[in-house]
Amino acid sequence: MYYEPRNNDHGLPFNPLKACVVPRPIGWISTVDADGAVNLAPFSFFNMLSYNPPYVLFSSGMHQDSAHKDTVQNIEQTGEFVYNMATWDQRQAMNLSALIVERGVDELAAAGLEPLPSSLVRPPRVKGAPVHFECRHYQTLDLPGRTPRAAHKVVIGEVVGVHIDDGALTADGLLDVARIRPIGRLGYMDYVSVEELFSMEKATPEEQIGQAAE
Ligand SMILES: Cc1cc2nc3c(=O)[nH]c(=O)nc-3n(C[C@H](O)[C@H](O)[C@H](O)COP(=O)(O)O)c2cc1C
Repeated sequence: MYYEPRNNDHGLPFNPLKACVVPRPIGWISTVDADGAVNLAPFSFFNMLSYNPPYVLFSSGMHQDSAHKDTVQNIEQTGEFVYNMATWDQRQAMNLSALIVERGVDELAAAGLEPLPSSLVRPPRVKGAPVHFECRHYQTLDLPGRTPRAAHKVVIGEVVGVHIDDGALTADGLLDVARIRPIGRLGYMDYVSVEELFSMEKATPEEQIGQAAE
């Protein structure tokens, strides 16, 4: 099949688009507003962009009433956010933190979570998340939508502090992702948790020549 998103003429019972780029990591983003009220929300249009320095980004749509999401407003006000890694153990709290609550209500507490202080930024970290990145706002890119409400803001932040729970490391000092089970977003209502890993050495030019000869 082939379809053009501008016509949305896929002919399928559900829009397949989000199922076509999977799994998407979940940026579970904590922020504070100018008065210090804590906000927490998951974003699956999220990824890491570079190493030195590391940058991360997430893309936020708008609320039904065309207001920008609290996360974006808070980052614009304060210039700071924290990425918390969402895992299988905290999947329900992650989901609860997507609920729209009145601005100024502590969404971290409302999701039954406890805060941990950050080192360099004001937004707290989510206790129980095995990895946290403290981030400073670098830039926001405005993506036009086909309708005004479909516009997105792509927020890029520089990672200035990295916390890794010592208990999430193997004896060899590797992040034990098979044990901590980060979760990712698939299409529809589906998620995935990392459980089955495989490793591959970098391919060599000799291997490439061998393939071509076969
Ligand atoms: C797993 C998951 C992923 C989400 N990803 C996004 C996303 O990438 N962009 C977005 O705008 N909203 C996303 N949402 C919805 C927001 O989390 C939701 O609108 C939230 O209420 C925003 O909160 P805020 O206004 O406190 O920032 C996602 C929700 C869930 C459960």
